Amino acid sequence: MPQPIVLDTINALRIWRNAERRAGKRVGLVPTMGALHQGHISLVNAVREEAESVVTSIFVNPIQFAPHEDFSKYPRAFERDLELLGEVDCDAVFAPSVSEMYPEGFATAINLVGPAAVGLEDKFRPTHFTGVATVVGKLLLQALPEVAVFGEKDFQQLAVIRRMVRDLDMGVEILGAPTLREADGLAMSSRNVYLSAQEREKAVVIHQTLLEAAEAAQAGMPLHAIEKEAEGTLSELGFVVDYVAIRDSVTLAEPVDGAKPGSLRILAAAKLGQTRLIDNIAVG
Ligand code: PAF
Repeated sequence: MPQPIVLDTINALRIWRNAERRAGKRVGLVPTMGALHQGHISLVNAVREEAESVVTSIFVNPIQFAPHEDFSKYPRAFERDLELLGEVDCDAVFAPSVSEMYPEGFATAINLVGPAAVGLEDKFRPTHFTGVATVVGKLLLQALPEVAVFGEKDFQQLAVIRRMVRDLDMGVEILGAPTLREADGLAMSSRNVYLSAQEREKAVVIHQTLLEAAEAAQAGMPLHAIEKEAEGTLSELGFVVDYVAIRDSVTLAEPVDGAKPGSLRILAAAKLGQTRLIDNIAVG
């Protein structure tokens, strides 16, 4: 497989992108924060189905981390990331510096309500989605892709990005790609490297709990009772639970009475030791 070309300035990205367009290619963007795993590779493969040319961005975005969060210790593995991307069909890697993305005097933010203000991640990470929307908005304007892909693992993030793209008429197709899981069911995440061996064994319970909760919802058990029971299961096992919530899968609002299981998503966030894990699955 040919190695991807590495672009570290917005200007270089634009020149590359314009050449691809002149050659009649549709460009697909895979935004990442690096520390790539097979989940990211599946995003590259998914966007490749829709685009003749693929660019993966690697940028650990400081403005989506709160001061007490893990920005400085977030795993960084640029050389390994390039190796992995060299093994798949990725044409370019955009890896800008912080000062390239946020030059002195940077003063703009994209701030959403809607799916960004439904009491899930936003309740525990109040500045997070402004940081995500701002950087994704910039990446979309920098790369001007025809299509961009985001993992369903960050389900609220995906909903926020879809909303932003629609609201700001960004004219890019947003693909959601299914969560890739380890053999035992744990959702793949760059943050899984933080788990101790003991925590890693226990971490799978989140997925198991979601599966049981989805089954109970399909069987018609009241949704609030399911959420409470799932939270109880996780707490008893030593998780510090932020939420287990069953929501409308598009708006992420509380479901209306009589909502069909097929329209629902169950989402969870919980801390195991120092590591915060999130996961979600469809109910129906
Ligand atoms: O999901 C991520 O890795 C990040 O939130 C994203 C979309 C690359 C923005 O920094």
